[in-house]
Formats: sequence, C-alpha cells, structure tokens
Amino acid sequence: MYRTSTCGELRISDVGKTVTLAGWVQRSRKLGGMTFIDLRDRYGITQLVVENDLSLGREFVIQATGKVVERESKNPKIPTGDIEIKVESINILNKSLTPPFTIEDQSDGGEDLRAKYRYLDLRRNPLKKALELRHRIAHEVRNYLDAQGFLEIETPYLIKSTPEGARDFVVPSRMNPGQFYALPQSPQTFKQLLMVAGYDRYFQIVRCFRDEDLRADRQPEFTQIDCEMSFVEQEDVLGMFEGMMRSLFKNVLDVDIPNPMPRMSWYDAMDKYGSDKPDVRFGMTIHEISSEVQGHGFGVFDSVPYVGAIAVPGAANYTRKQTDELTEWVKRPQVGAKGLVYIKLNEDGTIKSSVDKFYSEEDLRKVAAAVEAKTGDMILVLCGQKRKAQTMLGVLRVEMGNRLGLRDPKVFAPLWIVDFPLLEWSEEDGRFYAMHHPFTAPKPEHLDWFYSDKKEDLERVCANAYDFVLNGTELGGGSIRIHEADVQERMFQVLGIGKEEAEYKFGFIINAFKFGAPPHGGLAFGFDRTCALFGGQETIRDYIAFPKNNQGRDVMIDAPSKIDAVQMDELCLASTVKEDA
Ligand code: AMO
Repeated sequence: MYRTSTCGELRISDVGKTVTLAGWVQRSRKLGGMTFIDLRDRYGITQLVVENDLSLGREFVIQATGKVVERESKNPKIPTGDIEIKVESINILNKSLTPPFTIEDQSDGGEDLRAKYRYLDLRRNPLKKALELRHRIAHEVRNYLDAQGFLEIETPYLIKSTPEGARDFVVPSRMNPGQFYALPQSPQTFKQLLMVAGYDRYFQIVRCFRDEDLRADRQPEFTQIDCEMSFVEQEDVLGMFEGMMRSLFKNVLDVDIPNPMPRMSWYDAMDKYGSDKPDVRFGMTIHEISSEVQGHGFGVFDSVPYVGAIAVPGAANYTRKQTDELTEWVKRPQVGAKGLVYIKLNEDGTIKSSVDKFYSEEDLRKVAAAVEAKTGDMILVLCGQKRKAQTMLGVLRVEMGNRLGLRDPKVFAPLWIVDFPLLEWSEEDGRFYAMHHPFTAPKPEHLDWFYSDKKEDLERVCANAYDFVLNGTELGGGSIRIHEADVQERMFQVLGIGKEEAEYKFGFIINAFKFGAPPHGGLAFGFDRTCALFGGQETIRDYIAFPKNNQGRDVMIDAPSKIDAVQMDELCLASTVKEDA
C-alpha cells in the first residue's frame, strides 16, 4: 500500500496512529540536525519531521511512514497544522528537476511559462480549486437534469458544418479524398434530430469547436451544457433552466437567486444598458437626451440621430487630467467614440460642462433631470447612430462600474433577456442574418411581419429566443425551434439561403422534419463561463485543465503543428504556405 492517509486529512484526534503518506515535497528545510518537510498532495499539506539531515529537492515524490504527533508550534493556517509526522522510514519514489516556477498560490512564473508546464501549474491550489468547482458543477447539473428525466446522449464530433455562425474547424477525410468533416460548433442539429426521434428531454455536457477571435471568455474548444426538450413553450424551457441555475447556486455556492428571476426585453437591455448582456449589479443606466440637447447650435449633437448619457455617481470631482484620460479611453478603437462630453454637478451646487458655450445652466439642469443625476455626479454624453452610441455608452458604463468598484464578483445578478429580434440586417452585406440561428422560431403573433416583404416589417419580428445573463456575461442562450417545413422554408428565403444551398447544408434536418417533428426548444449554457463566474473570475482559462492561449495554441504540446509529407499526401492536401514564411 502506497499510503494509508492523504496529506490533508490528519488531525489532533489522529495523534498516536502510525500512518504512511505519499506526495510531493513542497519544501524541505534542515534545522539542528533535523529535516522538516512539507509534503503535498491533492488534499493538502502535512509536515514531516525526519531526525537527520536529508537533502530533498522541491517536487521530489516521496513516501514516508511514521507516527502522528502533536506539533509544538502549531500552524493555524492549514487544517493539518496541529500535527506532524515523526518519520520512521522514508522512501524517494521519484526525483524531480527543479520546477521552473514556484508551486505556490502566488507563483513567480509568467503566464507563458506556466502554460508550457501546465501539469506543474495544475499542482497549484487556485487551479486545483477551479477544477474541483468545475467537477462539482457538472455533478450538480447531472443530478438536477437526471431528476427531471433528461437523458445524457452523446452526439458525433466528425460532422458537417453547424449553423452557429463562427468559422468551422475542419478535418480532412483520408477515406474520402478531398472531403472534410467539420467539428461541431454545437450539437444543435443533432439535438433537434433527437427530438424528432422522440427523446423528449436530452442533455449533454459537450465540447464545441469554434474558430473565432479569442478573448478572456472565449476558447476555440469549450464546453456547453446543451439541452433540448419536446412539447414545450418558451415558459417551460425558462422554468426548467431557471430551476437548474437556482439549484446550482444553492447547492454549490449556497446563494439564493430571486424567484422568479428577472426578465428584460432585448430592446430595454439595449436602450438602458447598451448591451444584450447587461450587468445589472449597478445602475448608471443610459438615458436618451436627444430632445434636451439638439437644436442649440452644437453641430456634433445636431448632426446625429441619437444622443445618450449616463450619470456617474460621485464623479463630479474628476480632474481635468482624469476627464482627458477618459476622453482618450472612449476614443480607443475598442470603444470607437469620436469624443466625450461631460457635465459636472458640483458639490457646491454649480454645474459645469465641456460644452458651456452652447448650453445655459438651465439647459444643463434639464439634461441632469433627464439622466436622473444628483449633486456630485458627472454626466457622460456620447452620440451617433442609436444602437452604436448605446453600445459605446454600455461599454463606458461597465468601465465606470469597474473604476468605481461596483462589480463585486461575489454579488450575483442573473436575468433572462427575452424578445430578441429574429433577424439582424447587415448594411455591409445588404442582407439579413439570423440573430440566433436559422432554426429559431419567430413569435407566432409576428408571423404576418415574417411573411411580409418589407424590410421594416421583418426587422420588427421577434424570436422566441432567450439568453441567460449573469453579471454582464452571456452564460447561455436558446430558443423555441421552427418545426414546420413551410416556416423553415420562409426563414431560409428571408436569409437568402437558396433551395439548393439549404438542401446541401441542412437537407438531412429538413428531411427529418417531414417525419413528424414535435414542437421543441432548448438552450445551451457555456459550462466554462458558468464555472469561472461561480469562482468569481471572468477568465475561463483557469477552469479548463488544458486550455489554449490567445493565438489558439497549446504551447505545452506545441499544437497546432505541421504534419509530414506522407500524411499530407494520404489526405490529398498541399500547403500554400511558403517554407520560410
Ligand atoms: P450559443 O452560440 O449562444 O448557442 O452558445 C451557448 C453558450 O456557449 C458559450 N460560448 C462559449 N464559451 C466559451 N468559448 C466560446 N468560444 C464560446 N462560444 C459560446 C456562451 C453561450 O451563451 N446551439 C445554440 C444553443 C441553442 O440554441 O440551444 C448555441 O450554441 O456562454
């Protein structure tokens, strides 16, 4: 037997027992002819005392047998801090090179170095806790959905392009020269086929693959809690998964979320928060002030369709330097504003703005009233096309929320966003795109607009689609699906997908729908994002055992990498990349 106990379990009540532990040397120090070793495993750290001089390197793997004794100088910081092991025999199971960074909660290793030695990074407590949390959440999800009669069914990874709208990762087929599989961006089509097959409650904790630009909350391969149900309406789906999230919050974090959970229409979210994933932990909502500020001779405001503002609490004391810095900040390409106008409601009762030339004090007070600003606040104003200006204000609002410390990761404010537009017009391409995906059903009460040929009618059609938003992050999204062939045909028509293209891309599902497709709908949660937010982080990387870096590389295994000429030949592939490129 390698061990009788773990390094995390022995307590004062175990004093007198003879035990064997195995693990890694966290540190070892010699003191007056004795050696003190901190031995670490997944469960914790236990101090070993050896009565002679012993040279052990960091991360050596050892096994030690000895008696549990009460410690003279106790360490209240660790659960095993009351005891130590008086070692009778010690066995080096394996040596280790000196690790390139310290295996401590706060490591001295940079991100790249830790990524290269991920297996060492994973020995650190914060990562261990993150993976434990991930396991716990997966377990709770399975418990909840199993109790509700959901079946966990796997779907294939080597498939044909799915309709989520990102680029596909493709896999060449040796047996079918010149042909490619696509890796699933989600199991969307398969879960709908499972509904046709009669498996009316499906779920899967499943890997998805999307070749898109990476961010803190995006990985090229990520995991979804993917779900679908038959014979349901939107209310049934929302109720079921609100229940799932409520039980996750309760059982994992002991947090009670509001019952029922708040809902907001997409239109309200855009108008008030400038985002379809509003962070509602704080106010500072957006107000339109076009009628208050237009027609005063200020060309910037007069030449645009929309002027909007937020009132930043307590920011009237911002210095010139700070407002200049903020102006530069909104001009960055990530925000895209041309400039920033501010109005300060000073504590002494005066009101000052960067556009005093055009507005009287009375004008400015009207704006303050419209924005619900109070004495001590600073009003920030942006303008432009309505949705674009609102989006910029939304980004600015979140930034000010960060600066003012209003985004406490321990506070959870979940909500549903509902009533999404079905379609999104692209000025660039001169065509409509599906806001969610082309299988999303229009609201039955909007079918007249859906069949209209007018652009403004089509723009008004809302979808039976919904997103689950938590603290400014889209955690999940889904919809009621189209299950009638004629509605689906119309959807493809509106999207400019011709019969042939539809047949080529989605023929299998269109065909399946001719064999008794039940009304159905579902959703998918981003599992990595759920874990990260539950852990109080916005970056998902630490919640994935082996993630990719921002260039989509796994620097530990050095992938992607070239394949040899024989393999290329077998796959009928030729590279157009120049060797020295
Ligand atoms: P959607 O595309 O909204 O819906 O994805 C669902 C959820 O998956 C998470 N997510 C990601 N997480 C990490 N990295 C990524 N690159 C990434 N992309 C998405 C988000 C998102 O809310 N088939 C539909 C669901 C449905 O209609 O049932 C779908 O995939 O948290």
